[in-house]
Amino acid sequence: MAHSAFLRAFGKHWMKPLTLAALIAPFAFIAWQFFQVLSDPLSDAMGTDPVAYIHHFLGDTAIRILLITLAISPIRDITGWAPIALIRRRIGLAAFFYAALHMIAYLWLDKDWNLALLWEDMVLRTYIMLGMAALVLMIPLAVTSNNSMIRRLGRKTWDRLHWLVYPLAILAVAHNLLMVKIIYGDPLIHAIILALLLSWRVARWVIGKVKAPATA
Ligand code: HEM
Repeated sequence: MAHSAFLRAFGKHWMKPLTLAALIAPFAFIAWQFFQVLSDPLSDAMGTDPVAYIHHFLGDTAIRILLITLAISPIRDITGWAPIALIRRRIGLAAFFYAALHMIAYLWLDKDWNLALLWEDMVLRTYIMLGMAALVLMIPLAVTSNNSMIRRLGRKTWDRLHWLVYPLAILAVAHNLLMVKIIYGDPLIHAIILALLLSWRVARWVIGKVKAPATA
């Protein structure tokens, strides 16, 4: 009883601001490291290859936050703690923010803002093409992740549109897998987590279908 009262109070007062702080923290951390390197080029705040460090940090942050977005429904269903769904949209928006920053960092640091070079890279390297496809699919979801768009589209259309999160997560994980020669470590862990999250949804859908005729 005391436990559920605590969860209710936490959900009402603390969950949103704490989530926001946690989502901003990686940005604050990398911005701080970046300014250290800018003010002292000999600083080892970002290791020996700051550009690679930035790509890895922002790419990993984007994909992990995306996977956390997909984990919200299973957590809600397993724990029965409904208010956790209230933070899903802001977590999804943060995944888009870090993915966009990751692409902008690439365009800036590797391609010197030359869009033609980015395009060339996309045509030559499949993993860049997959990353770009994932990012493009994130745009309509980010734009519609607010109350007024839910009202305008209607819940059904909004849900249908946000179904795009599944193919885009597959594209993002494929982007991550294709850039390595041997699949192990983080890319493999990301792929396994996504596979589990998608299997859980398929299982829930199948169980729903089996139960429906029984209850009809
Ligand atoms: C136009 C879009 C994108 C571009 C140009 C891009 C480019 C890159 C590049 C150049 C790297 C470093 C590869 C290397 O180590 O050689 C990278 C890594 C990565 N990217 Fe992307 N990416 C894009 C979109 C995305 C998106 C949408 C996500 C996830 C939501 C993502 C997640 C990752 C991850 C997880 C890594 C691996 C980081 C690591 O090795 O620690 N990328 N990306």
